[in-house]
Amino acid sequence: MNSADSADIAAAFGRRGYELTDELKKADAVVVNTCTVRQRAEDKAISQIGRLRVWKEKHPEGKLFIVGCAAQKLGGKAIKNRFPFVDEVTGARAIEYFEDALCAQLGPAPETGYPDSALFRSPLSAYVTIMRGCSLKCSYCIVPAVRGPAVFLPPKTILEDARAKLAGGAKEIVLLGQTVNAYKHDKTTFSELLRKVLALPGLARLRFMSPHPLYFDDAFTDLLVKSPKLARYLHLPVQSGSDRILKAMRRGYTRAQYLGLIAKLRAAVPDLAVSTDFIVGYPGETEEDFADTLSMLKEGRFSMAFCFKYSPRTDNPAMVSHLDEPAMEARLEKLLAAVKKNSRVILQERIGKIEEVLFETENYGRTSGNFGCRVKAGGSPGSSAQALIEGTDKNTLNGKVL
Ligand code: 5AD
Ligand code: SF4
Repeated sequence: MNSADSADIAAAFGRRGYELTDELKKADAVVVNTCTVRQRAEDKAISQIGRLRVWKEKHPEGKLFIVGCAAQKLGGKAIKNRFPFVDEVTGARAIEYFEDALCAQLGPAPETGYPDSALFRSPLSAYVTIMRGCSLKCSYCIVPAVRGPAVFLPPKTILEDARAKLAGGAKEIVLLGQTVNAYKHDKTTFSELLRKVLALPGLARLRFMSPHPLYFDDAFTDLLVKSPKLARYLHLPVQSGSDRILKAMRRGYTRAQYLGLIAKLRAAVPDLAVSTDFIVGYPGETEEDFADTLSMLKEGRFSMAFCFKYSPRTDNPAMVSHLDEPAMEARLEKLLAAVKKNSRVILQERIGKIEEVLFETENYGRTSGNFGCRVKAGGSPGSSAQALIEGTDKNTLNGKVL
């Protein structure tokens, strides 16, 4: 979601004639988009802001903007007290009003604009935010406290955004939110929203991130079966394979329920790829609980998994992990190694299959199941084609365009 916000922020600068640069010394403005989902992310954001002191001393005219979740959590006042050289702080809840902060610092965008700005061109795969915040209360998670309860954007706004991105060159739209499949706006459900986006001209593929296991329904399964443009891919965070830990995390489902859900979806769409997130070292996680997570990885046949060390997000001592850093690290390493091995097995299952590849270059694209796929020739950037999968490299499929 921060990547999506960063792209929108960059476009707002683009309307004022700015371009992106990787070189700090060339920058007239710097935006730090912060995260606080784990303590490490927040620490990184803070030290990044601290390092910008030197830039600001050398470029007193330069403008420094701090945005995002860490900005929301820490508060504008605290940030400006600690870093008086910061010009504007816009917390995650006020991100829609970033334009106001820009106006305050740089004045309004000129009427004529900068229509050729590269910042308006969409990447092949463009993000479209459909909701902000989250109304669940997973015990480890800071998102509901920082971003507030779920607010769903109106379908009209979402469709306008998607249309603009398709007009700007995008072929794939990725709908974003914390629990996207909980989407409900007036009478529009998640599946109805998907159907509306699927009908937009120019769209080659539709993905969404992240759904929550609690909110899938038969209407979604039916739509998935019927809509070839809807990606055969779900990123469905499970967090743990242990029922005891899932309960403590207040995830709202058991291991069996999660597995039952993906089994049902795979029964309807056999080539569905599923990836997930795991947290290791949750307070009280025993060796047995951790073994359940390892076995979950295999049983879920996840194509990929992001793995995180638990990071306490409150001052409550009961929410501190019982594991010390080496023990935490050992579990993470073990899980990461298992994920690597498992992903290769899942990748190899695709050999001999015909996959639809959306090409980014002549030689590389992504399948509907979100596997990277290389071909020797025949890919047309921005278009999809059928490819026969003949083998695999480390993390990618090797195919031949049919
Ligand atoms: N500690 C570690 N990982 C976390 N995540 C969310 N909160 C925490 C936390 N306190 C992970 C979850 C989530 C992903 C975006 O970040 O796995 O799915
Ligand atoms: Fe956090 Fe996701 Fe749980 Fe919401 S559903 S509380 S964002 S982990």
